[in-house]
This record gives sequence, C-alpha cells and structure tokens, in this order.
Amino acid sequence: MKRLNVVIVGAGRSGGELIMRPLKSLANVNVCALCDTNIELAQKVARENNITDVYSSLEKALDRQDVQLVCISTPPESHFELAKLAMEKGCAVLVEKPFTNTLTEAEELKKIQEVTGSTITVIHNHKFMPGMVKALDIYKSGRIGDIIYIDRYWIELGRTHRLIGDPSSWVHKMRGGVCCETMPHLIYQVYQFVGEMDVKQVYAYKKNEKLPWVIADEVTVVLESLSNKLIMIKYSANATEAHRKGGLTRMIITGTKDSIHCDYHDAFILRTQDNPSLFKRGLKAVADLSKNKLSKRQISVGSGHGIFINKYIEYLTGSGENPVPIEEALHAIKLCTEIAEMIEKSVKRLV
Ligand SMILES: NC(=O)c1ccc[n+]([C@@H]2O[C@H](COP(=O)([O-])OP(=O)(O)OC[C@H]3O[C@@H](n4cnc5c(N)ncnc54)[C@H](O)[C@@H]3O)[C@@H](O)[C@H]2O)c1
Repeated sequence: MKRLNVVIVGAGRSGGELIMRPLKSLANVNVCALCDTNIELAQKVARENNITDVYSSLEKALDRQDVQLVCISTPPESHFELAKLAMEKGCAVLVEKPFTNTLTEAEELKKIQEVTGSTITVIHNHKFMPGMVKALDIYKSGRIGDIIYIDRYWIELGRTHRLIGDPSSWVHKMRGGVCCETMPHLIYQVYQFVGEMDVKQVYAYKKNEKLPWVIADEVTVVLESLSNKLIMIKYSANATEAHRKGGLTRMIITGTKDSIHCDYHDAFILRTQDNPSLFKRGLKAVADLSKNKLSKRQISVGSGHGIFINKYIEYLTGSGENPVPIEEALHAIKLCTEIAEMIEKSVKRLV
C-alpha cells in the first residue's frame, strides 16, 4: 500500500501526542519527520515514536521532496508562515486551531490554497465529540423545533492547567489572552447549529489576582446569528474544583418545542412540555444517572484528535468529505479576532 508521507511541525502537547498518536496508528500514513525549533524536544519525541528524521525548521524538512502532508501544531503566531511555505511547496496542510492570528492571514491562506491547488484544513476536533454529534443529529431530526437560544459554558481550573498556570506560556501573549486559545472550539460548535453570527457584546472581568498574567479570567460573549438566534458563551479561566464538577463543556440548546442538554459524551432532550409526577421524575433521574455513568465509562474520547484525524485522512485519500470547510475556519477566526479586541478594550478589574 502506498503510504502518505507526513511531517509534523511542533513536538509539544498537540504535535507530540494528540496528532502523533492517531497518525501513527494509521496503516496508510508514514510520519517521516518531526520539526521543532526546540531540537532536543524534537529528538526526544522522535525517539519515543521511532521517527528517524528530525529538523529544527520546516524549511529544512521540505528540502526532502517526498512530503505530501504537513501538520502544523505550533503556537498560532507561526501558523500563517508555516502553512504558506508548505502549500507553496505543494503539500496538503492540516493546521491546529486557532487557524491563524488574524483574519487577514486566514484570508491570505485561502487565496494561496486557490492559487497552489493545495488543501488546507483546520483541526476543529471538538465538533466530532459523541455528545456534540448526537446533539446535532437530534436538532436536525426536528425534535426540538427551531432554535431560540444557545448557552455554551466552558470552565478551566487555572491553577493546575498546563498553559494557564504557566506565566511564560505563549497563550498569555495571544490577543485577548488565554480565553482566545479556547474560543475557536466554542464558536465552531455553535456555528454548526446556527451558521454565521455577529458579536454583540463582550463582558470581560479580572476577578482573581492569583494568576496575575491571565488578562481576563471571566469572559461572557453575546452573539446573534444572521437568523436572529441568540447565543451566550461563558468562559472561566479560574473556576474552582466545585464549579468544574458542574460540567466543563456544557451546552444547552433551547428550541421552540424542546431543548437539548449536552456535554462531550452525551446529549439528551430536556422535556419541557411533559410534567410527570415528582415520583416518576425521581425514578427517571435515577435510571438516567446509572445509564449515563455506564456510557461515560465506556466512551473515552480524549481530545477528539483520533476521531478527527481518521476523518481527515479519509478526506485526503479521497473517501470522505473535508471535515472543516475553509468558510467555517474563516468565520471562527473572524469572530475570535473581534472578541479578542473587545476583551482587551473592555476588561474590568474587580479584584
Ligand atoms: N485542537 C485541540 O484540542 C488542541 C489541543 C492542544 C493544543 N492545540 C493547539 O495546538 C497548537 C500548539 O499547542 P501545544 O499545546 O501543542 O503547544 P506547546 O507549547 O506544547 O508546543 C508547541 C511547540 O511548537 C514549537 N514551535 C514554536 N514555533 C515553532 C516553529 N516556528 N517551528 C517549529 N516549531 C515551533 C515549540 O518549540 C513547542 O515545542 C496551538 O495552536 C494550540 O491552540 C489544539
């Protein structure tokens, strides 16, 4: 079987683990080289994964002529230059979210794609989480009617988080701060349900001095879709342990007939019309709880990169659709850029 030669750029959490593992598990893929400006890290990760060729730059790696796909998993500041170089050398490009630093860069990459004929796809992995897929299926079945309102909630435990807790991390240099590293996930998930949106309001607060390098630790974004559906996104960088138990990735989609409640593992309809007796509701809650616990134990989706990479490689080898159309990636980066600017302008200190 002819194998696809792949170079991974960035040997950190994403490139060294999240992208590496699923790519290495595919029989039709050969990870032929790993690049990182931190050459010691690249050598270590390459050794652990039996990759013989290591480079300190993508430029050097692309001298080898046999590369078909470049996976970019470096901080977003470098995505534009790396993706441009790879496409100009005729490679397909898979790039981590956030697509780019600015909308202008994203639009430029779209143009380069059109001129070179290379493809570029952004890793929007969380939309393929089982709970998100099920929620979209329920919505498309018509069971909740038209969407009125979406509430999306994301919380992090700042102190113990690998990037938030590290004052020297690149996430704190991003425009809008660490919130804007996560924001693409929240935007593209909602986009699947309502399409394009406008940013109406951003409330950004600095409430906690324990992590002084975090620009805003509580951010609420209000959006409206072009068809007048209201969306509220709430991000917390500094949640307590107790908050986190309430759900890291919760989304509630309120429709004209019913509502969907989902997380990454599961989605179900909240029955708003029926009014069963308290006794019946108690019995159902106990049954749902044990069912949910079982299904959560059975499904381990991790970051969702495995699900995403399988879909992407199917697309690249001609047996599937592009999992993230360029329009979706452009819209996510457009809104993220606006949100970042509004956070920087409006952050209020309540410490
Ligand atoms: N989709 C997801 O769920 C998900 C999860 C984690 C990270 N990410 C994204 O992946 C990207 C990387 O994040 P990470 O957590 O792996 O970061 P990281 O800091 O762990 O690793 C980044 C690596 O890139 C290297 N690097 C920086 N500039 C480079 C360049 N020009 N050429 C070669 N190497 C370079 C660094 O030395 C570092 O080793 C970010 O865009 C992040 O938002 C996405």
